[in-house]
Amino acid sequence: MIPRNGTVLLVGITLAWLGVGTAPAQEKAEPLTSPLQLTAGDCKTCHPRNYEEWDKSYHSKSVVAMHAGFKKYITTQEQARGRALNRHELMACIGCHAPGMRFASDEDFARLAQLVKTDQKEALAGLSVDCLACHALHASGHPEAKPPPETEKSTYYGPIKDAVNTVHGNKYAPEMNTSAFCKSCHTYVTPADLKLEGDWDVVCSLTYDAWAAGPHGLQAKQSEQTQCQDCHMEKKEGKAAEVTDVEVPLRQVATHTFPGWHDAAKLKAATDIALAAQAASGAFQVTVTIDNKAGHRIPDT
Ligand code: HEC
Ligand code: HEC
Ligand code: HEC
Ligand code: HEC
Ligand code: HEC
Repeated sequence: MIPRNGTVLLVGITLAWLGVGTAPAQEKAEPLTSPLQLTAGDCKTCHPRNYEEWDKSYHSKSVVAMHAGFKKYITTQEQARGRALNRHELMACIGCHAPGMRFASDEDFARLAQLVKTDQKEALAGLSVDCLACHALHASGHPEAKPPPETEKSTYYGPIKDAVNTVHGNKYAPEMNTSAFCKSCHTYVTPADLKLEGDWDVVCSLTYDAWAAGPHGLQAKQSEQTQCQDCHMEKKEGKAAEVTDVEVPLRQVATHTFPGWHDAAKLKAATDIALAAQAASGAFQVTVTIDNKAGHRIPDT
């Protein structure tokens, strides 16, 4: 027979166990999806190579990869202003990190801030610099114009003059071969009205500015200039699309992995470091010669 107080003890332990089991488990949030509806997944069937390369790139991770900085920005700004941030203040970051979000509702912007503050990275993974951000928004020269939500009614801008038309329209955009195209996102200084208190500030990428002023940039003769794409989107023979029963020609296509500082091989190729040590007049002198092969200052910021 179990004494009365023994039973009470058992019940107490059971409740404590339940408490430990349920408290830390955070409910999985519904993913926040692109307001453009179409995603990179909708291009994958016919553009598998572009998709797989892009999927490895940091353009495909451009919201989750900036998570810590974005969270700090939101919390610091909210504290300074004593209120939640509005769409303008959030767009100041994701205007480049997830351009399609400019078409999102105010409710979605509120959810975005909430998901970032509660570290729900999985729910944010679908937001990125995706195919549409480059080939529909930025390449059109009118990123503020909302493209149709169906591929069938869309026109995509690209580097091919005589593209085979199948499910969507194609428009030749010569700027896509030049640094000017990358400029819209790869130059950034925090605007005055978003300056943060203290010593923390956001300077994401000034690679365009550094390139433009450097030996490969705008000052060089046309023939001696190298564009961002020459180094970051290597060309190879391949097909721009693979569609059953449609003849697509072999072309020089552009690699979409966009290697940068996250890529060890690219980083290794960036500098030749020569060390020459010599004893001179009693002092030990070290000469360091760094030959920078990148088209811009490294590290960038
Ligand atoms: C004009 C476009 C632009 C805007 C606006 C912008 N960023 Fe960025 N951001 C970039 C680019 C481009 C990079 C990549 C830099 C690199 O890899 O050298 C980047 C990189 C970052 C990184 C590093 C990510 C990593 O992989 O480690 C963080 C963090 C970041 N941004 C946060 C922010 C925050 C916070 C804001 C808003 C205050 C913001 N960005 C606004 C373009 C922008
Ligand atoms: C049913 C197949 C199909 C789907 C789905 C598809 N495409 Fe295409 N796309 C093609 C074909 C075919 C070409 C022409 C290739 C060629 O001529 O070499 C093409 C060409 C392109 C070009 C080059 C245009 C130019 O003039 O340079 C871009 C950019 C493009 N597609 C983007 C996209 C994006 C973004 C998506 C997803 C939203 C997508 N495509 C979905 C079949 C498709
Ligand atoms: C950061 C911008 C950016 C993103 C993101 C991007 N592209 Fe591109 N894409 C380009 C540029 C720039 C070119 C032209 C490069 C050149 O010719 O020098 C290009 C070329 C192409 C072409 C022409 C053929 C080829 O492969 O060179 C196709 C098709 C294409 N992209 C499809 C896609 C698809 C599908 C996605 C998403 C899975 C995607 N792109 C994501 C910038 C982008
Ligand atoms: C719509 C905005 C946008 C455009 C257009 C764009 N980028 Fe980016 N790019 C970004 C953002 C945002 C990141 C930062 C991703 C992250 O958070 O790490 C980035 C990151 C990169 C990186 C860094 C990869 C790494 O390892 O850190 C390279 C390289 C790069 N972009 C090259 C290019 C080139 C070349 C072009 C033009 C053909 C281009 N980008 C066009 C927004 C853009
Ligand atoms: C001559 C070749 C060359 C040209 C041209 C060039 N890059 Fe780079 N870039 C490199 C190399 C090599 C690295 C790797 C070194 C590193 O990551 O620090 C790099 C790194 C980067 C990174 C990540 C580096 C960082 O420090 O934040 C970004 C972003 C980038 N480039 C964007 C661009 C853009 C945008 C352009 C055009 C305006 C451009 N690059 C032009 C060779 C080039």
